[in-house]
Amino acid sequence: MSLATVLKPVLVSSLVLGLGLSPISAFAKPSKAPAPVLAAGAVAAPDAFGAAAAKQVLDKGGNAVDAAVATAFALAVTYPSAGNLGGGGFMTVWMDGKPYFLDYRERAPAKASRDMYLDAKGDVVEGLSVVGPLATATPGTVRGMAMAHKRFGKLSWKQVLAPAIALARDGFLVSERLQQSRDESAPDYTGKTNFGTYYAPMTKGKVFRQPQLAATLQRIADQGDKGFYEGKTADLIVAQMGRGPVKGVITKTDLASYKAVWREPIRASWNGFDIITAPPPSSGGIALTQLLTMKSDLAPAFEGVAHNSPQYIHLIAEIEKRVYADRAEYLGDPDFVKVPVAALIDPAYLARRAGEVKALTPSVLASVQPGIEKPQTTHFSIVDRWGNAVANTYTLNGSYGSGVVVEGGGFLLNDEMDDFSVKPGVPNIYGVVGGAANAIAPFKTPLSSMTPTVVLKDGKVAMVVGTPGGSRIFTWVFQVMINAYDFKMPLKDAVSVQRFHHQLLPENLIMAETFAPLSEPVVKALEARGYRVDNTGWSGDIEAIQIMDGQPIAASDPRGWGVSITVP
Ligand code: DON
Repeated sequence: MSLATVLKPVLVSSLVLGLGLSPISAFAKPSKAPAPVLAAGAVAAPDAFGAAAAKQVLDKGGNAVDAAVATAFALAVTYPSAGNLGGGGFMTVWMDGKPYFLDYRERAPAKASRDMYLDAKGDVVEGLSVVGPLATATPGTVRGMAMAHKRFGKLSWKQVLAPAIALARDGFLVSERLQQSRDESAPDYTGKTNFGTYYAPMTKGKVFRQPQLAATLQRIADQGDKGFYEGKTADLIVAQMGRGPVKGVITKTDLASYKAVWREPIRASWNGFDIITAPPPSSGGIALTQLLTMKSDLAPAFEGVAHNSPQYIHLIAEIEKRVYADRAEYLGDPDFVKVPVAALIDPAYLARRAGEVKALTPSVLASVQPGIEKPQTTHFSIVDRWGNAVANTYTLNGSYGSGVVVEGGGFLLNDEMDDFSVKPGVPNIYGVVGGAANAIAPFKTPLSSMTPTVVLKDGKVAMVVGTPGGSRIFTWVFQVMINAYDFKMPLKDAVSVQRFHHQLLPENLIMAETFAPLSEPVVKALEARGYRVDNTGWSGDIEAIQIMDGQPIAASDPRGWGVSITVP
């Protein structure tokens, strides 16, 4: 099969949209309640409370966006490592047969500057972009949720906030996994932020109530997003900037002027599917398109190669090297740097790149150049009965973000500034490097890897997928799609089966996971080819829905404590 036929990035205008509309329905009187096209709605969310919030809203007749907003606010209460008010994210939406992408990621404050994390000698000051209020970029989640709801919501704003307010006010039962996650992160913040004090009562088997957060959510419910970006909540955030050994720089003007942006999603067609995914300021959609394209382009090389065999891992790692070389060189905030999107996903370019892949041994690092001229985040996937879909990935960046809780507000602030390249060539917490394209500047958005993705078949939703994982997000989304479509695994297996990762640097390092480590023979065979294997990593929390014959099948990653529900 030629590359052009398997994966062809397409312009929005050239893609056939709304194929479900027959000539008869085009003339029919518009109905307030369109007939459902799926047997059920469904949600795959990272915890039971987030999934229940979506169910509650879908049961009331809300659509996928209503459910997504309710889930996002609920997770801000019950999944504080990544669910958030003080962070940001991306929402990929398929609504009434059209694609949308909302960028509500954090932006650098006005007082941010290129060298703000360097000392007088020009060296990076350890931890400054990761812990404490200076690590925080202006949050985007609340404005993003308000914009998504305003454009597409069917239920009222108060209805979609109700589950979160109840969870904060009345409390929720803390699970062992949640306490464990808190305990793992707490030492990073000891003596540096107020994290330990606020989250001390979040212990397993106890009901954790958050009256300050309930009041913050109530202000948002009563006043809309202004209840967060202006007035009392904004005052509390700015006051928090002044606490702690190193002060933060977010001002009331930064908050009041924050804008979320509707952007054109990245669109590609691949093996008969249309992919809708994240454009810059995420690297995820471009990278996912590059991965899928090169994998298809190398179909002859993959012929008969077993899933996760040494040869399979080698070929995928070779593809990944090229993706990460481009990422480091070309990708940044499109409002600040010209990102050559079309060139990076051009089939002819990717065919040439795929042609550089070495069949058996790893390419030498210096030969892989850009080609053309702590972790927690969370993802949930939702479909409604009308065939609309939301893939939402949002984050505080590291687990529990900067560790700074807004006193009186009851929510954590992000450490998203670390996603900038704080100094060219110096890796961030995910080990990826960047250059000028991702340097810090006022109001700029740090480069992301988040890849909330909707896959379409004949104009209808076929899959909704995403995961946390920093720089590893898109290689995991890629593996799940390949598992489901190329290896034809049932979704549950496609999500749970062993994953691995390679990102160019560190050189020839294959990162494998603790959950399902690579076997000794596979490790030995890879080592014989010149790879090093680290079997110690965490490998995400995929939350995915696949539609089979009009029936949604939802799967939550066994690596996390997610819950999937179908809502008939
Ligand atoms: O936007 C990004 O790419 C990162 N801030 C995401 C962080 C993340 O996924 C952490 N989770 N493990």
